[in-house]
Amino acid sequence: MLLDILKSRRSIRKFQNKEIEQEKIDTILKSALLAPSSRSIRPWEFVAVTNKEIINQLSQSRDPGSGFLAGAPLAVAVIADHTLSDVWVEDASIAATIIQLTAQDLGLGSCWIQVRERFHKEQETAGDYIREVLGIPGQYCVECLIAIGYPAEEKKPYEEDMLKREKLHFDKF
Ligand SMILES: Cc1cc2nc3c(=O)[nH]c(=O)nc-3n(C[C@H](O)[C@H](O)[C@H](O)COP(=O)(O)O)c2cc1C
Repeated sequence: MLLDILKSRRSIRKFQNKEIEQEKIDTILKSALLAPSSRSIRPWEFVAVTNKEIINQLSQSRDPGSGFLAGAPLAVAVIADHTLSDVWVEDASIAATIIQLTAQDLGLGSCWIQVRERFHKEQETAGDYIREVLGIPGQYCVECLIAIGYPAEEKKPYEEDMLKREKLHFDKF
């Protein structure tokens, strides 16, 4: 049930030294392509990286915040062509979330690494750094990297009594 996946999903930053089966990678990427997008423009594209050297380079995108990616067998860069849609951020974020939930459903762990509005070095954005590493053309913005792998840390699922029900409003605020 989707609610069970949502409850058990936690950010996983430590991964087993174990490759992810190609079939699971394909399923994750297929799920991303099923994401809804404004006016169905689908401004997003995805770069799936399993090459260790490139993952290492990506792990240096931000300091701190992305170092743990070096231990992941898979990174997915979620990018979007900002010239196609003024709401590419929303479209990319929805696709990234779907990637994370699909990974969870497949018994994998994942964590979002924020790229948009973040810096690699004082003068260079994390997005520019990643564009360079991955050879991404200029009109594409990088929303995030999703680190994925078999979990090597255990995190407690969320329980019903942990939910902030005060965030809910009915009929009026
Ligand atoms: C938009 C967004 C940006 C995030 N950026 C990072 C990040 O750069 N590095 C990181 O380690 N975790 C990042 N996270 C993961 C959050 O820290 C994590 O989701 C939050 O602490 C709640 O923990 P949980 O995912 O286990 O429920 C991000 C999550 C979201 C939704």
